[in-house]
Amino acid sequence: MIVVTGATGNVGRELVRTLAAAGEKVAAVSRTPAPVPYGVEHRRADLTAPGSLRGAVDGADALFLLVAGDDPDALLGLAAAGGVRRVVLLSSQGAGTRPEAYRHPVAFEDAVRRSGLEWTILRPGGFDSNALAWAESIRTSRTAAAPFADVGLPSVDPADVAEVAAAALTGTGHTGRTYELTGPAAVTPRQRAAAIGDAVGAPVRFAEQSREEARARMLEVMPEAVVEGTLAILGDPLPAERAVSPDVERVLGRAPRSFADWAARNAAAFR
Ligand SMILES: NC(=O)c1ccc[n+]([C@@H]2O[C@H](COP(=O)([O-])OP(=O)(O)OC[C@H]3O[C@@H](n4cnc5c(N)ncnc54)[C@H](OP(=O)(O)O)[C@@H]3O)[C@@H](O)[C@H]2O)c1
Repeated sequence: MIVVTGATGNVGRELVRTLAAAGEKVAAVSRTPAPVPYGVEHRRADLTAPGSLRGAVDGADALFLLVAGDDPDALLGLAAAGGVRRVVLLSSQGAGTRPEAYRHPVAFEDAVRRSGLEWTILRPGGFDSNALAWAESIRTSRTAAAPFADVGLPSVDPADVAEVAAAALTGTGHTGRTYELTGPAAVTPRQRAAAIGDAVGAPVRFAEQSREEARARMLEVMPEAVVEGTLAILGDPLPAERAVSPDVERVLGRAPRSFADWAARNAAAFR
């Protein structure tokens, strides 16, 4: 059985669906009860309280682990005690490119590497689904606001992250690998807004925010170190953060999905 934490999130939801469709036995974990596909078991756990994972990993042989809580060694110890032999960690590209700002994912990566389990680490760049932050303003006023309008980054479709995770959880040849996951091309915030306009069939006006405006908005939902790290990536990306990684294609045998593809599949959120 495969236990998926973050099962209600952008990646976890897709991963649960993908694994269940492939006939795998899946337990979907979240902190509160959540709808799951037919045949999937829902289990409750809060990763900030590692003990709550004990029941959730019962009978599992593989675990998809999110970076949440402060005690990855305890989480991994409980997983191993519950029978888990393989772990796939959803980390972040920033763990490699800006470890001082991404200490939390770095700590989880270190714990996974020393866990004694078969491990695979996923380091995605920014998700295409971050554009859902524009859903309300596009629905109500056909406007999207963001800083650094013309800085392009190769954001990744969470469905591709989920497919790579499914391959690592169920396939062979992924143990001890760290995959950098990006989309197929750099896309700027202005181009993302235009792609959503194309997907909904109505133009979307782009309003460029100052760095300070964006910082204030982000501080409402993220810790300060992560805000600074994210703003640095969005505004002044390192060559490694601008680069398109070959890893999605290497693992899946096809090119990563484009932002336009994500926008077309998620157009309903912006109408
Ligand atoms: N968004 C990005 O651009 C990006 C880029 C690189 C890496 N990542 C990583 O990907 C992960 C998901 O990001 P996302 O943007 O897709 O977020 P998301 O869709 O909001 O998903 C967050 C998930 O985390 C679960 N969760 C949060 N705290 C938890 C806890 N204490 N115990 C158990 N589950 C908990 C939530 O489950 P419930 O609330 O239902 O319990 C939810 O399923 C994050 O860990 C992030 O570091 C994101």
